[in-house]
Amino acid sequence: MNKIFYFTGTGNSLWTVKQLLSQLPAFEMHSAVNIVNRSNKEDITRCDSIGFVFPVYLYGPPLIATKFLSTLYITEKQYTFYIGVHGGYLADTINVVRKVLKKNNGHLNAGFGLKMPGNCIIDYSPPEKEIIEQRIRESKKRIIEIADFIKNRRSGHFEMGNHLGNWLLTGILYKLLIRTLPGYSKKFVVEDRCNSCEICKKVCPVSNIKIENNRPIWGSYCEMCLACIQNCPVEAIQWGKRTKKRSRYRNPYISIRELQNQKENMGANL
Ligand SMILES: Cc1cc2nc3c(=O)[nH]c(=O)nc-3n(C[C@H](O)[C@H](O)[C@H](O)COP(=O)(O)O)c2cc1C
Ligand code: SF4
Ligand code: SF4
Repeated sequence: MNKIFYFTGTGNSLWTVKQLLSQLPAFEMHSAVNIVNRSNKEDITRCDSIGFVFPVYLYGPPLIATKFLSTLYITEKQYTFYIGVHGGYLADTINVVRKVLKKNNGHLNAGFGLKMPGNCIIDYSPPEKEIIEQRIRESKKRIIEIADFIKNRRSGHFEMGNHLGNWLLTGILYKLLIRTLPGYSKKFVVEDRCNSCEICKKVCPVSNIKIENNRPIWGSYCEMCLACIQNCPVEAIQWGKRTKKRSRYRNPYISIRELQNQKENMGANL
């Protein structure tokens, strides 16, 4: 048995897993958020190979990914790989994942970066449609190469940025800022055109949104995955004043329902 665990905000990581599965039929996919809050550890003892596919946040793995990786017990014989799904710069993300696994007596055999459309609407607009499709086409090809690597259980391949970037962006910026992300949801606001459809609540992977008086309210535990703001059908959610004029992004091959499935069976945090 082989498993791939994923976390996604806007679907790029989920799309990556689905592409991988088309190349690696012996694998099955599992949502990491379904597992992370359980008191018992995920039983992966019977897995020959274990994969992780998470987006890159602030030049490192999301907090929830680190938390999830820390719950695993990986044995020496098991083959492990990680794909950091990023929007432009991976920096030293793979090394962070490697260190988290090592700290828990595990290991990482191989780590890859995959450039997908950037979704960080609080910093920039998503790329134009043609660029999105081009990146997806390029990633499809790269995933076939990565799958071949995994099939042959090849080890020792770890992608990363340059030394200065790794040191500055992951070594300093990520370490300094990643723990501040949960508080970013204080800046979400909802405009009057909200139609109370509750999609924002449904797609939030960590159940950080509740609906009161037909309007969303954000709690204090946010992964900053941006699923809420990116999937509101009437673009009623803003993050401060920055996002008003920016268009929204969800991976064009992933549905809202699929995003919702990510947290099925997960207890609410509110
Ligand atoms: C809070 C946040 C921080 C991000 N930081 C980075 C980053 O450091 N480097 C990068 O290349 N992309 C960064 N991105 C872009 C995402 O990693 C990228 O769009 C990814 O494909 C999103 O995956 P998803 O659709 O599975 O959520 C960031 C996105 C968010 C929401
Ligand atoms: S997704 Fe948008 S329209 Fe629907 S409840 Fe949330 S804010 Fe309102
Ligand atoms: S509140 Fe929004 S940005 Fe934060 S974790 Fe939920 S969906 Fe993601």
